Amino acid sequence: MTLILRDKSSLRAWRAALPPGRRLGFVPTMGALHAGHMSLVEEAGRHSDTVIASIFVNPLQFGPNEDLERYPRPIEADVDKLEQAGVAALFLPSVAEMYPEGASTFVEESMVSLPLCGEGRPGHFRGVATVVLKLFNLVAPHLAVFGQKDAQQCAVIERMVRDLDLPVEIRRAPIVREADGLALSSRNAYLAPADRAAAPLIHQGLKAVEAAYRAGEHDAGRLAAVGLAVLAKSERIVPDYFEVRDPESLGAITTVGGRGALVAVAARLGTTRLIDNLVL
Ligand code: PAJ
Repeated sequence: MTLILRDKSSLRAWRAALPPGRRLGFVPTMGALHAGHMSLVEEAGRHSDTVIASIFVNPLQFGPNEDLERYPRPIEADVDKLEQAGVAALFLPSVAEMYPEGASTFVEESMVSLPLCGEGRPGHFRGVATVVLKLFNLVAPHLAVFGQKDAQQCAVIERMVRDLDLPVEIRRAPIVREADGLALSSRNAYLAPADRAAAPLIHQGLKAVEAAYRAGEHDAGRLAAVGLAVLAKSERIVPDYFEVRDPESLGAITTVGGRGALVAVAARLGTTRLIDNLVL
């Protein structure tokens, strides 16, 4: 049975009662769980003795015109999936439980959170870093697992952990995809059929960049152009960015050197914004 903990005091009591020798693995989510989330749960299970997940649709990381209201919340199905995966506990707080009235303290990473999604979604990574630090403080896990799907989010959290000396090990889990290459996302459910049909071009664009890189093209701008040309095959896809970046700082590069690169894309299909990436 997965124990559902709705308030901070019951979470803290549960945490305090865990035998000291047991390694606790943590998977934070916003719910609408799919095979990508569940792969994180499996990864946590491989590296810890007890796994706890959280589901919290964090208002602080949504912009004023984003999908906070319509974000899917299929809580019963989510609990079933966590039970089947053997997750010991689920932290399921309300907004009021997480954010006391007038909360005025935030965590701001000020380098890797600026480019890419940081440009189009101001305040997003501040919301992510703040809620993840709060969750780390409450859960006190030995290990937390995040998906490479959100590569910039991983980079922000790794920096926060390093810069603020948080006693938690961060693991990145690989991107889980549909058979046609589309990265699994809770937001895929919003796609109209014609947009869903076009969406695999995003992954095809990334694969085309990889193929060009392997064929000897190392110029970052020309590699990005290869990817954009694939997205242009469908007028339904409106790219926000398609960038070849330094894999750690996420800063701009002109050439892919020995450190490799992160190829990152964000694109809108209708009102849905999808992201994906690939490491060279
Ligand atoms: P959410 O979008 O629910 O994602 C939870 C975790 O699942 C993240 O670490 C994300 O990278 C991972 N994930 C999503 N799709 C994936 C896929 N196709 N393959 C592998 N991993 C995947 O990310 C968040 O929630 C929030 O920002 C959160 C960290 C919970 C803070 O609110």
